[in-house]
Amino acid sequence: MVTAPPTYIVTGAAGFIGSALCRSLRENGIARVVGIDKMTYAASRESLLALAHDPQFELIVADIADGGAMKAIFDKFQPDGIMHLAAETHVDRSIDRPDAFIQSNIVGTFVLLEAARRYWQALEATKRDGFRFLHVSTDEVYGSLGSEGAFTETTPYAPNSPYAASKASADHLARAWHKTYGLPVVISNCSNNYGPFQFPEKLLPLSVMKALNGEALPIYGKGENVRDWLFVADHAEALTLILTRGRIGEKYNVGGDAERRNIDLIHDLCAMLDEALPQSAHCPHRQLIRFVQDRPGHDERYAMDFGKLRRELGWTPRTSLSEGLRHTVRWYLDNRAWSEAIKARTYGGERLGQLP
Ligand SMILES: NC(=O)c1ccc[n+]([C@@H]2O[C@H](COP(=O)([O-])OP(=O)(O)OC[C@H]3O[C@@H](n4cnc5c(N)ncnc54)[C@H](O)[C@@H]3O)[C@@H](O)[C@H]2O)c1
Repeated sequence: MVTAPPTYIVTGAAGFIGSALCRSLRENGIARVVGIDKMTYAASRESLLALAHDPQFELIVADIADGGAMKAIFDKFQPDGIMHLAAETHVDRSIDRPDAFIQSNIVGTFVLLEAARRYWQALEATKRDGFRFLHVSTDEVYGSLGSEGAFTETTPYAPNSPYAASKASADHLARAWHKTYGLPVVISNCSNNYGPFQFPEKLLPLSVMKALNGEALPIYGKGENVRDWLFVADHAEALTLILTRGRIGEKYNVGGDAERRNIDLIHDLCAMLDEALPQSAHCPHRQLIRFVQDRPGHDERYAMDFGKLRRELGWTPRTSLSEGLRHTVRWYLDNRAWSEAIKARTYGGERLGQLP
């Protein structure tokens, strides 16, 4: 007997990581996928073009904070799992206007958990036992590290930005819906992702877009803040493993084993641009770097201990930072029209998140 593939809902499906996850789930034939996205400024239909003619993929434009719409989607598609990525995600925007972060990240997660709980409670036993709710979160909930150590799953939460606080709140809700109602929740916390289709307000795509136009490359403070970097396709694989094989009620850290100071990362990026564009009038691109006033509450260092994910589920990142960065730079060079369209339409690369 041929069994039908499971159906997974992916929220935030038209975002950077959500779209990579949808492509990965479909390209590997893992599941039929129903994407949900509100289509905020950060969403991109182009990121899902590869699935435009796939009968096993559907994108539904809806707000996760709309309980009626969520109930209708659960009732119609009868999912076997949900991978929850929809969120407002840019720290600088959360400093300027925290409202949308509270609404989508906290209220939206609450509404989605409630819709999932009601649906799950009414399922017949076998389907109910197999159902999973994966809540996707960030390393930023843990706060900031000094020069030593790494976050583990038991590191106490200490979020410093409105974005991090909204994600921490959502993590607590997801945990509580498991502890109180028994909803089969698993939580993942991941370090900084990079790769194709990332909205050009984030450090790497912003720097590529500005460098190509010969504009200054702004670096906060002295560029000494350290982040751990993970290629987005590797994150998609980790999320699939955690959803399908993670232990219910557990949290899993996901990391890239690739810590870099921001300044070193941008130096690497500039060297790759010099190599790819030797005729450019802007070579050497590192001459474009400008240090600007630091972000308020800027966390010094993040590092992830993802030993639990490695031990329990056998996951490690496949892509080295230099390989992934090279691929990413190439992608932005080959798809310049994508970021230029965003620049013309919604975001011109201006500085966000400065206190008056
Ligand atoms: N980018 C990273 O480095 C990173 C690292 C760790 C965790 N995460 C988490 O992964 C998830 C995805 O991040 P991303 O970088 O792809 O973000 P993104 O900003 O690129 O995409 C988020 C998507 O969610 C959608 N969305 C926002 N509010 C919504 C709502 N109320 N209803 C429905 N859709 C809504 C947006 O339209 C957008 O398409 C987020 O939960 C984020 O916190 C991101």
